[in-house]
Amino acid sequence: MNAANSADTRSAERSVAGPGARRRPIIEPFKIKVVEPIRLTTRQERTTYLEAAGYNVFKLRAEDVLIDLLTDSGTSAMSADQWAAVMRGDEAYAGSKSWYRFEAAVKDIFGFAHVIPTHQGRAAERILFSTVCRPGHVVPSNTHFDTTRANIEAAGAEAVDMPIPEGLVPSRVHPFKGNMDVAALEALIADVGADRIPICMLTVTNNTGGGQPVSMANIRAVSEVCHAHGIPFYLDACRFAENAWFIKEREEGFDHRSAREIAREMFSYADGCTMSAKKDALVNIGGFLATNDTSLARQEQNLLILTEGFPTYGGLAGRDLEAIAVGLEEVLREDYLTYRIASVRWLGRHLTEGGVPIVQPPGGHAVYLDAAAFLPHVPPLQLPGQSLVAELYVEGGVRGVEIGTVMFGHTDPDTGEEVPSRMELVRLAIPRRVYTESQIDYLVDVVLDVWDRREAIGGFRFVEQTPVLRHFTARFEPLYEMT
Ligand code: F0G
Repeated sequence: MNAANSADTRSAERSVAGPGARRRPIIEPFKIKVVEPIRLTTRQERTTYLEAAGYNVFKLRAEDVLIDLLTDSGTSAMSADQWAAVMRGDEAYAGSKSWYRFEAAVKDIFGFAHVIPTHQGRAAERILFSTVCRPGHVVPSNTHFDTTRANIEAAGAEAVDMPIPEGLVPSRVHPFKGNMDVAALEALIADVGADRIPICMLTVTNNTGGGQPVSMANIRAVSEVCHAHGIPFYLDACRFAENAWFIKEREEGFDHRSAREIAREMFSYADGCTMSAKKDALVNIGGFLATNDTSLARQEQNLLILTEGFPTYGGLAGRDLEAIAVGLEEVLREDYLTYRIASVRWLGRHLTEGGVPIVQPPGGHAVYLDAAAFLPHVPPLQLPGQSLVAELYVEGGVRGVEIGTVMFGHTDPDTGEEVPSRMELVRLAIPRRVYTESQIDYLVDVVLDVWDRREAIGGFRFVEQTPVLRHFTARFEPLYEMT
C-alpha cells in the first residue's frame, strides 16, 4: 500500500464534520507521554523464533513480537489520570477510600445494588456460576466466552449458545450480529422448563461471534422473556462501552443520547453482570460481579472471602480499584469511542478493499480474518487459521490468535475422529490506546502481503497437544515449505 494514497483515503473516509463545515480526519484523542520501544526483527530471526516455539505464537517471547494483537484484554495503555489515581490508592484491608471510589463509579454506570470486586472476569464468573448453577441446569447466551462456558460446565450445568443465524455467517452484514435468537430462547424455556435455567446471559459485545454488538431492542426482548419466566438476566459486560457506541451509531432513536445514558439503559434491563475490567475499564487487571439480589450477594461475598479477598478489595490492590474507577469514566468519552470504533473499522475497511475476507462488519475490539475463505485450498483439519497466524508473524512480526479448529476442534468420543470448528477465524485484537495509525497501516500491509502469496501457503499439523485448552501449549509443524 502506498503511504501517500493511504493518507488521502484516510482523510476522506475517517472524517467527521468539525465545528465549521470542513470535515477532518478522526485522530487519536491523546498524546503520548510514555513510550515502550518495540523491536523490528528480521524475517530470518522470526522464522527461527517461531520454529523454536513449535509454531505456537503463545510460546513466543513478547519482545520478539512487533505488533501484538493476541488480545485486547489487560493490554490497554492507562492515562495520566489513571496513573495519578494509582498513587492515590488506599491499601487499607477493609473499607478503603479506593473501594468507595470504585463502588461509586461502578454504581453510577451499572446501577446494580451490590458490587463484588474480583481480580478478573473469570473470577466473577466462577463465583456467580458456582453459586447459582447445579447439575441439570442450562445457561443460555448469545454466545458464551470460553471461560464463561468452562465455569458453567465446572458447576455441572450446560452452556448453550443461541446467536441469530446471521451471526454464524462471516460474510453476512448485519448491524447487530451479536443478537440472541429470541425465538430459540423461548423454545428452550418451553423445552427444558424455566426452573432448570438459573440465569440467562448476553455477552456485549459478542467476542466469540466476532466482537459484534447486541441491540437495545434485543437486550430488552431477552430481558422481557426472562422476566416473564422468573429467570434472572445478566450481561457479560466486558465491552459494554463499545456495545453502547454501536447502539448510538446504528439503532434508531439513540443518536442523540450519550454513551453513558445508553450504557445505563442497557444495564437497567438486567439483574446483574460479570465484568472483566481488563477490557472496557482500560486497566491491566481487575473485574467485578454485580447483582440486585441481596441474598445472592451475601452468598457470593462469602465465596469471595474464601478465594479472592475481603469484599472491599476482592483480590485487587486499592490502586487497581482507583485505576478502574477512572478508566470507567474515560471509556465512555465520546472522543475516545469515536476514535476506537473508527480505528477498528479503518483496519477492516482497508483489508476488505484489498480483497481479504473478514468477518463483516468489523467488530468493536478486533478484526477477524476468515481463514477458511483466505486459504480455501487448506482443509479445516490442516488448520488454515494456524497457517495464517504463523505467516503473519513471519511476514511482519504480527501476533494474532487462531479461533478455529486449533482452539475449538475436538475428538469425537464415539468415532475417535477429529471434528473441526464451525468457523476458521484469526482474531486481530486491537489493544486500547496502544498502537498508532501508522502501525495499523503497517499491519494492513503485512496482511495484504500474506494475501498476495496465499496460494503458496499450505496447512499445519499437531505434533504435540494436551486434552484440554490445547491451543495454549500445542506444538505444530508446517506441511509445506514456509518461505
Ligand atoms: N467474557 C468475555 C466476553 C471475554 O472476552 C473474556 C476474556 C472474559 C469474559 C474473561 O475475562 O480474561 O478477565 O478473566 N477475554 C480475553 C480475550 C481473554 O482475549 O478475549 P478475564
